[in-house]
Formats: sequence, structure tokens, C-alpha cells
Amino acid sequence: MTKYLIHGGKPLHGTIEISGAKNAAVAIIPAALLVDGKCRIENVPQISDVTLILQILQDLGADVRAVNRTTVEIDCSHIRNKPVPYELARKIRASYYLVGALLGRFGRAQVPPPGGCNLGGRPIDQHIKGFIAMGAEVEVHSGLIDARMPGGRLSGGQVYLDMVSVGATMNIMLAAALADGLTIIENAAKEPHIVDLANFLNSMGANIMGAGTDVIKVRGVKSLRGGSYSIIPDQIEAGTYMAAVAAAGGEVLIQNVIPKHLDSITAKLLEMGVDVEELDDAVLVRRTGPISRANVKTMPYPGFPTDMQPQIAACLCLARGTSVLTEGVWESRYRYVDEFRRMGAKIQVDGKVAVIEGVEQLTGAPVHACDLRAGAAMIVAGLAARGDTEIGGIYHIERGYENIVEKLSSVGADIQILYQPDDETQSQAG
Ligand code: EPZ
Repeated sequence: MTKYLIHGGKPLHGTIEISGAKNAAVAIIPAALLVDGKCRIENVPQISDVTLILQILQDLGADVRAVNRTTVEIDCSHIRNKPVPYELARKIRASYYLVGALLGRFGRAQVPPPGGCNLGGRPIDQHIKGFIAMGAEVEVHSGLIDARMPGGRLSGGQVYLDMVSVGATMNIMLAAALADGLTIIENAAKEPHIVDLANFLNSMGANIMGAGTDVIKVRGVKSLRGGSYSIIPDQIEAGTYMAAVAAAGGEVLIQNVIPKHLDSITAKLLEMGVDVEELDDAVLVRRTGPISRANVKTMPYPGFPTDMQPQIAACLCLARGTSVLTEGVWESRYRYVDEFRRMGAKIQVDGKVAVIEGVEQLTGAPVHACDLRAGAAMIVAGLAARGDTEIGGIYHIERGYENIVEKLSSVGADIQILYQPDDETQSQAG
């Protein structure tokens, strides 16, 4: 099993360039299924989740061409409507976007239920509620979500989401883009990638209003045309490197970000005694003094992101005093805690709440990444720890972080890949 080996305790200095946003890319690429013509998509992160979603499109008959390292052209003019292969769909959570996109394009989608990081239950009832509101019939049988619209074209509908769901908001937007009439999504999610998907679809001729607010209106259009679009920078990748500097110390310029998207992370780090200076498209993060304790509660955007919860926990393990961390989005996202304890962290978990008593020093240990952000947090902890940390399960990390070893090495981290035969490839995606 290939692992990362980190010799911790070295402060970080230099510049890191942020890649395109994973959770925008995994929705925008399926959105190309709705477009008659060629989509040129720029700032695409080179991560395994993107590779998988592109493979699924190719399997459906899309013509996919890499223009350069971060630009891809996708032409879905000649795609076939057929069931999405189980072997591909089960590896990536975002395969649920194929339901909305194929239903919108063909009036029929057959997609295996998605896999996903184990964060507790991950239902998709709100997605289905949205499709039904647009006239679709949805059944789950023979290992497939089978959604069909009698007559082919969905009709606009109104849906109130029972909880703020990123996936349901985007999936309903995808299905509604080519529907007959107006679809209204109430209690919609407001994450930057929701706005990015709307901007992508609008640049191809869709008519979506209100993305970024809690009411989104999609007036269906007859067809979408090809065009060119650049994906936003990854808020969580940037936040992860900000946490790495906070934990390990040093000074790093994190470039190609939209500082506004980082507001909740910046505010929390400032409260913890970390300097964060916002520039036009960069943040300068510096930590020289001690880390102060803080309470953190994760919430939908613009709240503190759940996808930064394990990484901020790594920093709080080293804070002066006791911090309280509350998970406000997922049922459970503390599977990493046992691994942190191996490194000397003092954490007690009760349901959605973790109480973290800061320690003077973490010590390196062999640990296993149990999901994507947990793996990222183990890197953050390993960079700050004394001694060697060996992280297994790194396929989780590579699903969502482009060149993380190279990026960290370039700012002075002592991190390397230990290549070993019999690599695990059973990724389950988030
Ligand atoms: C997206 O998952 C992200 N994944 C997750 O990122 C992220 O943690 C999450 O949004 C919240 O920000 C992708 O974009 C691929 P939700 P998603 O629907 O869309 C409940 C990462 O690390 N819910 O917003 O699946 C659900 O159980 C990953 O990059 C229902 O009950 O999340 C959860 O408690 C991990 N029924 C809450 O809503 C539904 O139909 C929010 O889930 C849908 C969701």
C-alpha cells in the first residue's frame, strides 16, 4: 500500500498555488451532458474523482479531450442513454449528478446509488423529491436509481428542501435547466460551487437566477450551446493549506483563491491567533506564536465548512486550552479521532460534539486516512508533529488534492511518497 511519510516539526515557507474546486468540477463535468456541442472547461483539478467522472462520460459516448494539464474539452453531441456502470459510479459520490443531467437530457436516467465517504447516513431523498416535483417517476431496483419522465421532457416544479443540501440543489438545477417552464428551489444551498454550476450553465445558455441565495429559479430553455468556462479555485484545498501553516507554523502565500470564499476559515484562524492577510486573489498566512483555543461549529455556507472540520481539529489539538467542535452537517465525522489519539491528541467525542484538550506537542505515528478530509487532517497533524508520521489509505486524499506532496514539499515540508506494491484502489468518494 502506497503511503505518505512525513517528518514533522518544520515550519512552512513559500507559495502554494490552489487548483480548481473539486466539488464544482464534479458537478460541472456532468453538466456538459446537457450541452449540444463542445464545452471547454478550464482550471480542472487533476484528481482521481475528476478522472472517474470523465471516464463515466466517455462510457456514455462523450468525446473527451485533454487540451492541457488543466483544460478539457467535452463534446456530448453523440452520447447514448444507457445505464451508468456500477464499477465507476460506486467509487464516486458525485455520480448522483448523472441522474439530474441524464434525466434533463433524455428524460431517463439509470444510475447506481452513489458511494461516498463514510460520514454517517447519506440519503438522497431530497434529490428524488425534486425530480418528482418536475414530473419524474423514480424507482430504485436492480441496484439502480431508475428515473424516467413519461413524455421525455421534465416540467418545471417547486421544491422546498427539508434540509440545506448541496447535492440536491445542484442536481435539481441540472434537471431543471432543459425542463419546460419554471423550477423554484427553496431553502437551497449557497456554497460557492452552487454559484459556479449556475454560472457554467448560464454561460451555455441556461436561465438560472438566485444562485448563492436560498431561492433559486431555473427557467428551462430548449437547448444549451457549447462554450468555454473556468472553474473557481478550491476553497477547501486552500483552507487545508491555511490549517497546515497554522499547525506547523511559518509563512505561506496561498495563491489563486477567492478570499471571500475563505471568510469563515480566515475568521476562525484569526481567533486562534494565526495572522491571515487577504490580498486580491491570495491570502498570506503566518503563525509564529501559540495557537489559542476556539469553539467551531460546522454549518452550510457561509458557515464554517464541514469539509474543514478535521483539519481545524488538527490545529486545535495543539491549542492552549480546551476547544469544543460541533459537527452541524453530517451525522458523524469523527472517525479520524482514534488516529489522532495515536499521535498524542486528547479528544473526547459525544455524538456530534468533540472536546479537544490542547497538548504541547503531537508525536508522529502510523495512521490510516479513513476518508478524504480525515486524510488531509492527518497530513496537517503530521506536519506539526515531532518525528515520523506514516499515512496509509492515501487514495482517499488523492481523490481531492492535486499534487499535495509536491505542493507541500515546495514550501519546505519533509513529505514523501512511499511506493509499495499492491496499492489499494477501492476508493469511495465524497
Ligand atoms: C457535498 O456532499 C460534498 N460532496 C461534501 O464534500 C460536503 O461535505 C457536503 O456537500 C456538505 O457541504 C460533493 O460535493 C461531491 P449535502 P452532499 O447533500 O451534496 C443530508 C468532501 O469532503 N441530506 O449537502 O452529499 C445529509 O445526510 C465531501 O469533499 C439528506 O438528508 O451533501 C447531510 O446531513 C464530503 N437528504 C446534509 O443533508 C438528501 O437528499 C447535507 O448533505 C441530501 C442530503
